[in-house]
Amino acid sequence: MTLKIVALAALLGFALGIILALFKIGRIKVLTWLANVYTSVFRGTPLVLQLMIIYFGMPQIIGFEIDAFPAAVIAFGLNSAAYISEIIRAGILAVDKGQREAAMALGIPYKPMMRDIILPQALKNILPALMNEFITLTKESAVVTVIGAMDIMRRAYIVGGDKYAFFEPLLIAGLIYYILVMILTLLGKAVEGRMRKSD
Ligand code: ARG
Repeated sequence: MTLKIVALAALLGFALGIILALFKIGRIKVLTWLANVYTSVFRGTPLVLQLMIIYFGMPQIIGFEIDAFPAAVIAFGLNSAAYISEIIRAGILAVDKGQREAAMALGIPYKPMMRDIILPQALKNILPALMNEFITLTKESAVVTVIGAMDIMRRAYIVGGDKYAFFEPLLIAGLIYYILVMILTLLGKAVEGRMRKSD
């Protein structure tokens, strides 16, 4: 459950993060404003609150209840997008402006310039920051336990309640999170190394 939530939320956050980052650096004022408001709201309020609003509060607005799993994916994805958009924005701005100028001098239109020239270079620069975000997301996913999703944390809690002993199950939960984060770290290092090789 933890892996499913993290993987889907990371995908959602990344896709939305790219769009928001493009809005932020784009020339269309309304979109820039919208993306900035989005980031400020999602970064300015607690993730637990956002999760609870989507799970407990949304049914009042949309008229039906949603399961804990989709609610978690949406909440974590939307929240992460705010952080990822800032990471990507910074990464795009850090790409040497000569790259953009050269592309423009060659008459390359905005879309292929972004897709084939600027974004690939930006992504390489931001990889460590992005990995950091995915690690944060993995650990923050433990707060889904407040809406009852059966993730690692909740299961440890249930075992603890059942056995009247919380120490061991929580310790094991911690160990599992730690291993997950170590795997992510190694994966990030491998991708980074691979990208440096292409230089
Ligand atoms: N605990 C913080 C909060 O509630 C962290 C939010 C998630 N952070 C992140 N980089 N995705 O706001």
